[in-house]
Amino acid sequence: MSHATYEIKDRVALITFQNPPVNGMSYALRKSLVVFVDQAEADSGVDAIVITGSARAFSGGADVTEFGTPKVLQQPILRVVIEVLENVTKPVVAAIDGVCLGGGLELALGAHYRVAAAHAQIGLPEVKLGLLPGAGGTQRLPRVVGLEKALHMITTGQIIKAKALADTALLDKVVETDVVGAAIEFAKEVVAQNLPLKRVRDIEISPEGAREILDAAREKLENGKKGQIAPLKCLDTVQASVFMSFDEGLKYERELFLQLMSSPESAAMRHIFSAERAATKIPDVPADTLLRKVEKVGVIGAGTMGGGISMNFLNVGIPVVLLEQKQDALDRGVATIRRNYENTMKKGRITAAQVEERMALLSTTLSYDDFADVDLAIEAVFENMDVKKAVFSELDRVMKKGAILASNTSTLDLNVIAGFTSRPEDVIGLHFFSPANVMKLLEIVRGEKTAKDVLATSIALGKKIGKKPVVSGVCDGFIGNRMLYAYRDAADNAMLAGASPSQIDKALENFGFAMGPYRVADLAGLDIGWAVRKRRAEANPEAYVPVVADRICEAGRFGQKTGAGWYKYETGNRTPIVDPMVENIVKEFREARGITPREVSDQEIVNRCVYALVNEGAKILEEGIALRASDIDIVYLNGYGFPAHRGGPMHYAQQVGLFNVVRAIKRFAAASESEAKFWQISPLLEKHAESNEPLK
Ligand SMILES: NC(=O)c1ccc[n+]([C@@H]2O[C@H](COP(=O)([O-])OP(=O)(O)OC[C@H]3O[C@@H](n4cnc5c(N)ncnc54)[C@H](O)[C@@H]3O)[C@@H](O)[C@H]2O)c1
Repeated sequence: MSHATYEIKDRVALITFQNPPVNGMSYALRKSLVVFVDQAEADSGVDAIVITGSARAFSGGADVTEFGTPKVLQQPILRVVIEVLENVTKPVVAAIDGVCLGGGLELALGAHYRVAAAHAQIGLPEVKLGLLPGAGGTQRLPRVVGLEKALHMITTGQIIKAKALADTALLDKVVETDVVGAAIEFAKEVVAQNLPLKRVRDIEISPEGAREILDAAREKLENGKKGQIAPLKCLDTVQASVFMSFDEGLKYERELFLQLMSSPESAAMRHIFSAERAATKIPDVPADTLLRKVEKVGVIGAGTMGGGISMNFLNVGIPVVLLEQKQDALDRGVATIRRNYENTMKKGRITAAQVEERMALLSTTLSYDDFADVDLAIEAVFENMDVKKAVFSELDRVMKKGAILASNTSTLDLNVIAGFTSRPEDVIGLHFFSPANVMKLLEIVRGEKTAKDVLATSIALGKKIGKKPVVSGVCDGFIGNRMLYAYRDAADNAMLAGASPSQIDKALENFGFAMGPYRVADLAGLDIGWAVRKRRAEANPEAYVPVVADRICEAGRFGQKTGAGWYKYETGNRTPIVDPMVENIVKEFREARGITPREVSDQEIVNRCVYALVNEGAKILEEGIALRASDIDIVYLNGYGFPAHRGGPMHYAQQVGLFNVVRAIKRFAAASESEAKFWQISPLLEKHAESNEPLK
């Protein structure tokens, strides 16, 4: 099977990659390319060679369908193909359109010249898979774009438009249209003028100033991504491009590439790559389900969530009508949206014209009658069933047939909400996370009666607004918050056993969480949770078990907004300061319960908190709330700051070994009656630990 085609145009051989969707560098493509290059070189009717992909992709890099198969290493491997290109005796020009990423860019760097479409997307994103570019990219890119830019591109995986690279030696020509035509003309010009066959490997990099650039980059990386090794290995290899010969540099790149390839970090990040793709496939919803059209959105409630939710649609050009009960609430909501956009503009991420364009798509109303023409309504009003009932009854009254009615509820039963309407099949949960314009996670809650096309439309829309959609069944807290409760309780148990809030935060931050649970609580505010607990305590005083957070709140400490919570804060400063008063509260709480504190190691803290996530995750899987273990990982990675290089709680558990996880849980459970109550093992987890079968 050939993954490329060959034709001759005006004495120029045109080799076109044919491996949709993104011309991944499959074994068949690599082989075809070498065969055709040899053919062109031997043909006296050919003066030059142009290699190209399609308008969608020059090449997206490695062929992911070959990952983990022998084809990855089957000759000719990409490094060999690149060497073949470099050493052809006729000029080779790469014509680049669409994406030119990873191995695709490395291949293009093996050509003698490169012509690109202005909007082509160029980058070496391997670091995002916990890897480094392993086919010479770390050695060639610095030679054409300079050390600093190459370092940034390779250590962050940033993708850049070709027009922004037009003044570098990476691109010889940038055109607006017809890249292939321009490349053929360019190749003929090279022949006519007898221009040299330029090889990137022969360009010298000046070591002058390199040390400073490298040291600054290293410091930044070391302070940044905690525990991640790939960005630093990327830096090491780029450093080699300056201080080693080209061939030594290539050899070094290979060594480090192989190390990363077998690292848990890369396994985790490759897991995420496929998990994200799997999450949007729903077994009983066919891929070709006809989607409903969503050209106008209505949002009810202009508070914290409603404003952020609206922005997602305005950002992609979908008009939004925002509804509130009172004009001043609308005015406040609109002002917040404008302020958010203006802040983004100040950071240079959007222009003033874009701010106005987006604001022009926003309209406001106090009347449900203005929802008659919207295709999707998302409710973000107070978390109260009576209020939801009032809203959904109105929506049912005014909305057109075929429109989608969505709720952003975090805790209420979606099936009950759907029951307030005469069309439960059109009702779905769209659970955004705060800040809704920033957070990537979107839990899509499938009610008992939600129609398949409503689900498929919601997933497609989620992708369109740049979210990572994951489907959840109906349960208290859905996937993410339900697991969060278990995690928070596990942290509290570690605290009661003897750890301090700051030790717990640090242990989890060193594991890689963006922030520990008590710092998160101080940031989010402690009062909302306290109000919920008080309501529960009133409703069922017998069953209520007080927690340390109650005492913290009783002392008027609601977190950063009151200058004190689990930590104290100096005015205008968000740095948490350990407060002896909190230590006293914890101490008194332990004493009241007759607990003698003991040393709790950082490892035990991490195990307790992460295994609590794993155990609850397994229960969620068992109940069919999540479709797959990897969906749970996507929720936790995108909504709760779980470290990407660990692949999510379920993947992490698999790497630790389910047997070891279950053994640790049993030991925690044996400590006391209340621990035994908390650590009730998921039968599914236990079964898989026993059989050694991965949780899927
Ligand atoms: N805040 C979060 O972090 C978060 C995250 C996910 C989901 N949620 C959910 O989103 C919903 C809204 O939460 P929020 O934090 O934005 O609350 P909020 O108090 O900031 O905003 C609610 C808004 O709804 C308006 N409102 C109330 N009743 C209304 C009615 N009958 N008609 C029209 N408008 C009405 C209020 O005036 C207010 O502006 C809740 O269901 C909540 O559980 C919140």
